[in-house]
Amino acid sequence: MTSSRSHDIWLTVLATVAVTVGVVEAYHRYTNKNNLTNTSSSSSPQVKIKKSRPHSEELIREQLARNYAFLSDEGMDKVRKQRVVVVGAGGVGSWVATMLIRSGVENIKIIDFDQVSLSSLNRHAVANLSDVGTPKVECLRNHLLEICPWANIEVKNQLWNKDNAQSLIYGESDQEDFKPTYIVDCIDNIDTKVDLLTFCYENKLPVISSGGAACKSDPTRINISDISKTEEDPLARSVRIRLKKRGILTNIPVVFSAEKPDPNKAQLLPLSNDEIEKGSVDQLAALQNFRVRILPVLGTMPGMFGLTIATYIITSVAGYPIEPIEGKNRYKIYDGILQSLAGQQSRIGQLDQRIPISLNDVPYVLEEVYRGKSPISNYSTRLTLSRWDPNQELSMQNVVVMTKDEQKFHEDNVLNGGKLLSDVYSQDILDRVAQRFAEEKYYSQFR
Ligand SMILES: *[C@@H]1O[C@H](CO)[C@@H](O)[C@H](O)[C@H]1NC(C)=O
Ligand SMILES: *[C@@H]1O[C@H](CO)[C@@H](O)[C@H](O)[C@H]1NC(C)=O
Ligand SMILES: *[C@@H]1O[C@H](CO)[C@@H](O)[C@H](O)[C@H]1NC(C)=O
Ligand SMILES: *[C@@H]1O[C@H](CO)[C@@H](O)[C@H](O)[C@H]1NC(C)=O
Ligand SMILES: *[C@@H]1O[C@H](CO)[C@@H](O)[C@H](O)[C@H]1NC(C)=O
Repeated sequence: MTSSRSHDIWLTVLATVAVTVGVVEAYHRYTNKNNLTNTSSSSSPQVKIKKSRPHSEELIREQLARNYAFLSDEGMDKVRKQRVVVVGAGGVGSWVATMLIRSGVENIKIIDFDQVSLSSLNRHAVANLSDVGTPKVECLRNHLLEICPWANIEVKNQLWNKDNAQSLIYGESDQEDFKPTYIVDCIDNIDTKVDLLTFCYENKLPVISSGGAACKSDPTRINISDISKTEEDPLARSVRIRLKKRGILTNIPVVFSAEKPDPNKAQLLPLSNDEIEKGSVDQLAALQNFRVRILPVLGTMPGMFGLTIATYIITSVAGYPIEPIEGKNRYKIYDGILQSLAGQQSRIGQLDQRIPISLNDVPYVLEEVYRGKSPISNYSTRLTLSRWDPNQELSMQNVVVMTKDEQKFHEDNVLNGGKLLSDVYSQDILDRVAQRFAEEKYYSQFR
């Protein structure tokens, strides 16, 4: 648990950062907006509306030659016919739109109310300095038409919400139905996200949703899973809890990162379930719900989320075989480890063999807390679990990953032998174990 004092300090720091950055950005936008209205000023950002224009099929085929080689003519036919609506054109959405267009998708609609800000250039796919202050959707259309002039890129510089959902996604009238084949949710506000996903569910529109890229930095943990199975993603977690209340439990693929939070990394405090339900203090939201806090975002991460989404859409619509790996399926091994721990209880004279650690806890302790190795030897084979301190109950903070030989040694010397931990192990090992316990305590807030 985080003490309330450090909580206050953290909030104060955040508030200060939010205000400072907010003012700078607001000023920037204000000045740019003023200049934007002055169409005769040459060095101010101006929104030039570009139009798509015909292009020779031969050149299109050449431009897309590598994707044709990969996905085949049939696959590319399907890709090119897609009609994708991207809601949210920021760090994730700009990459999704860009890569879909570059990959040959010919009809895209991009919806976003916001403007390009200076501080978003760390993660945007195409924006440059002269786009700052202009609508994100116009910026994307103009740049993307320079890449694929034949594409039909519709933009809506509006906030998507459930009241205008129908007209923004399909079109104002029956005649101009966009006929979407795919919706991409790159919204960072919890309420709006939940509304969009509900809308897609009710209208049977295929959708893929982006989790939160803030505070993440480990590219190896990016994952695509059903909404019911995301981990370590506070945004996806809040969305899941709220969708559940609307009876929507599954069938929404989400790109997220399973990277664990760490006190030494950029962080956000976890929200309590109460807060999620109240919905008033969204940790990922702001001014009228948008960006109350400035989130620490490493610019590369939203981009990777966006590329992951674009890859998922292109391969799945092209019928390219994709089969995400469903986790490390080592439940037999985990079960053996659990049995060995239960057996130890009786070997050390505990009559009650029931243990406060479940099968699901074993991969967590083994892979996540102990990084798949013994803190005693660093060995990563023939691993099992052992109670550590004989004077304390077995618990998540009194169980250590070790090899089978180390477990026997530990039982003979410490658990049954009565020797002190400090007589048996070096200070280095004692410190390493203490550190793992502290880490488990910290992680447990998020589980
Ligand atoms: C508008 O742009 C001009 C350059 O064209 C710049 O000198 C001026 O400071 C800008 N106006 C404001 C209010 O920032
Ligand atoms: C607009 O720009 C022109 C030329 O740069 C300048 O003369 C004029 O004062 C500007 N108008 C406003 C309202 O800033
Ligand atoms: C920067 O963006 C502007 C507006 O979209 C565009 O006109 C300009 O060519 C871009 N500059 C470069 C170097 O790409
Ligand atoms: C990715 O998600 C699946 C499903 O939740 C999970 O089984 C797997 O362990 C995850 N992979 C990583 C690297 O976290
Ligand atoms: C295990 O690895 C840690 C660093 O991760 C190192 O400090 C320690 O000395 C290693 N222990 C052994 C027995 O190799």
